[in-house]
Amino acid sequence: MKPGDAPFAHPPPAAHRLDLTVNGRPTTVHVEPWVTLLDLLRDRLHLTGTKKGCDHGQCGACTVLVDGIRINACLALAVMQAGRTVTTIEGLAGKETLHPMQQAFVDCDALQCGYCTPGQICSAIGMLSEGHSHGSDDDREQMSGNLCRCGAYANILEAIEQARGSGPAAARAAPPAS
Ligand code: FES
Ligand code: FES
Repeated sequence: MKPGDAPFAHPPPAAHRLDLTVNGRPTTVHVEPWVTLLDLLRDRLHLTGTKKGCDHGQCGACTVLVDGIRINACLALAVMQAGRTVTTIEGLAGKETLHPMQQAFVDCDALQCGYCTPGQICSAIGMLSEGHSHGSDDDREQMSGNLCRCGAYANILEAIEQARGSGPAAARAAPPAS
């Protein structure tokens, strides 16, 4: 490479236009192809409720719902979410009413520092919506991708049990009617 040459043979790819729905709002952004959904949410849309723990798919702190299915936002590229509906912890409550899963976490004191809590709540909603869990033994297995450094697991399981008892609204990735 001669002095003054560009460091790369090809310019970096341009940002892509991305249309998606985030917490019920149609959203258009321009993102480079390497931007993760987690960084889009936190750094560009300022939805910092979704947490970055490991950034490697190992802790579940970044769990959000995409078309109602839970995913690790740190492992998903933003550009792959075109046309999809993303729900984060900020999009769950109604104007006056918490989502049943949020209320259950409050009622059961299912958090300590709270860092893992947005991911735990989104994951628990996704789990109920997937229909794979029918009791606390299933919950342990199905929630095993969400780590809690504070060890609030017993209360988290209790909260999920309470939310399950509140009916189908507990599995919905949308605000309750207020
Ligand atoms: Fe995504 Fe840990 S930050 S799994
Ligand atoms: Fe602190 Fe779970 S409440 S990490």
